[in-house]
Amino acid sequence: MPQPDPATSADTGAPTEAVAPAEAVAPLMRGVAVLHRLTEANGVLSLSALERATGLARSTVDRIVATLARMGYVRLDGRDAILTPRVMELGNAYLAALRLPALLSARADGLADELDESVSLAVADRDGIRFIHQATRRRAMSLSFRIGDLLPAERTAPGPLFATEWTDEEWHSWRTRRTTDPQNHNFPTVPPSPQSRRNDRDDDAEEDEEEAFARRTAGAASTDYALDDQLIEPGLVAVSVPVRDPRTARIACVANVVSHTSRHTAASLRETLLPRLRAAVSAMEDDLRQASPPHPGPPPAGLATWTGASKQELGREFVESLARGLTVLTAFGEGRAELTLTEVAKATGLARATARRALITYEHLGLVTPTPHRTFALTPRVLALGFPPLSRTSLPRIAAPHMATLADEIQETTSLAVLTERGDEIQYTARATASHVMSVDITVGTRLPAHGTSMGRILVPKTGDAPPPYALTDEELEQGVRAIAVPIHDRTGQVIAALNAATHVARRTTEECVHVLLPALLSTASHIETDLHTASRFTRFPLT
Ligand code: PHB
Repeated sequence: MPQPDPATSADTGAPTEAVAPAEAVAPLMRGVAVLHRLTEANGVLSLSALERATGLARSTVDRIVATLARMGYVRLDGRDAILTPRVMELGNAYLAALRLPALLSARADGLADELDESVSLAVADRDGIRFIHQATRRRAMSLSFRIGDLLPAERTAPGPLFATEWTDEEWHSWRTRRTTDPQNHNFPTVPPSPQSRRNDRDDDAEEDEEEAFARRTAGAASTDYALDDQLIEPGLVAVSVPVRDPRTARIACVANVVSHTSRHTAASLRETLLPRLRAAVSAMEDDLRQASPPHPGPPPAGLATWTGASKQELGREFVESLARGLTVLTAFGEGRAELTLTEVAKATGLARATARRALITYEHLGLVTPTPHRTFALTPRVLALGFPPLSRTSLPRIAAPHMATLADEIQETTSLAVLTERGDEIQYTARATASHVMSVDITVGTRLPAHGTSMGRILVPKTGDAPPPYALTDEELEQGVRAIAVPIHDRTGQVIAALNAATHVARRTTEECVHVLLPALLSTASHIETDLHTASRFTRFPLT
């Protein structure tokens, strides 16, 4: 399949888009391009692949990646640049400002449980739709999209609903996009359009498709729902209903029930599930009506000082204008959905002129939009900066790189475990071994009784007790093995896993375990928790 031309991807603007304004910050545009390319590549690209994909010089790629690594958005593993969970703070800023996931996701999840089908929420993104929530049922025979994925409006059920609100200008840009990209190559997450695949140069077929979408839009306008009968791929069917903003009566987002032809036809979706979807949507609209005002969180602290210090330390390798520009996106959030230039400057600690140029750059890139109230707001496209690949993660995947660093540092084996459903045994979920060290041979998946293990004591505290800050076991389960474990907490403060280091009695005394291993374990646990809390703010993923 031909690769999308990096210069024409839907997430970086059509080729006809205006040239960058003179005040746009070039390093910030390059940094954003690197994040886009990494996202499209599912989160990993070698530096040389990045060089090819962006068309940038290798030295520029190196400096951008070094800067993104310093910000904690990317890590380097050999020759690969890999997106890290921290980059999700950009998408989180958009989702928090939007508030819809916080207000509506519980209803969407409830509906998915009730129907035993996947339920999603999508917003309009120019002539596409972008997912802001997914309550996915794991099944064979179904492709499911991730939070942040962008689909062409005409191949979805929400598309015609959003198109009922399009202006002539928006219809015009949709037609232009259809002409320049008939096969949807600019939407890397959807299979190429089957119609166009059948006959590339069939103008009549093209016209039919345009008419079909106009017809579906007219239908959506009169019925207030829409269907997707296998427009994305064979077997995939969906029914959608708009969730209206109670203040403006405009569509805030669209709720979708997604199924497979092995369970439902498009017609049976409409007959059996549409009424229940409508009921859920009307409850969602009540929730929006009754929502209390947002609680503005604190603006990011001390970022401008931080970028200055990093520049001092890294010199040429640190692209300060990129780091400063990226902090502008994190100024937005819950209760901070629309900010004036002055507010952005104040929240980030940037000079007004610097904040202004960053906003001009983002407006050009379609990541920020001016509002009628002389303020700026983030657009859904911010989700294309790393969110989709990272939204399908797991605790072991989040922990793995931190555990590898720890194992290297302490030269001991480190493991992660959770409590099983039985409640009296633990299961190993991740492991990192130090090179050249003879290690206790326990593989991922192993179950052990909780009582004799350091991690078990963290996960099953004695009745009535709060989980201990750490637990040490001395040759209890196995002779010669000494282990020390610390808790991993979720966003609410609950202990959800334990991290340990295991050593041999001959290698470390009990005192050494407490004075050397414990501080390293606590610091690693805190790094894992930071990533976990960022990644789990708007997405659900397994702990195993
Ligand atoms: C989805 O949530 O995966 C979905 C929603 C609407 C569609 C297709 C897929 O039309």
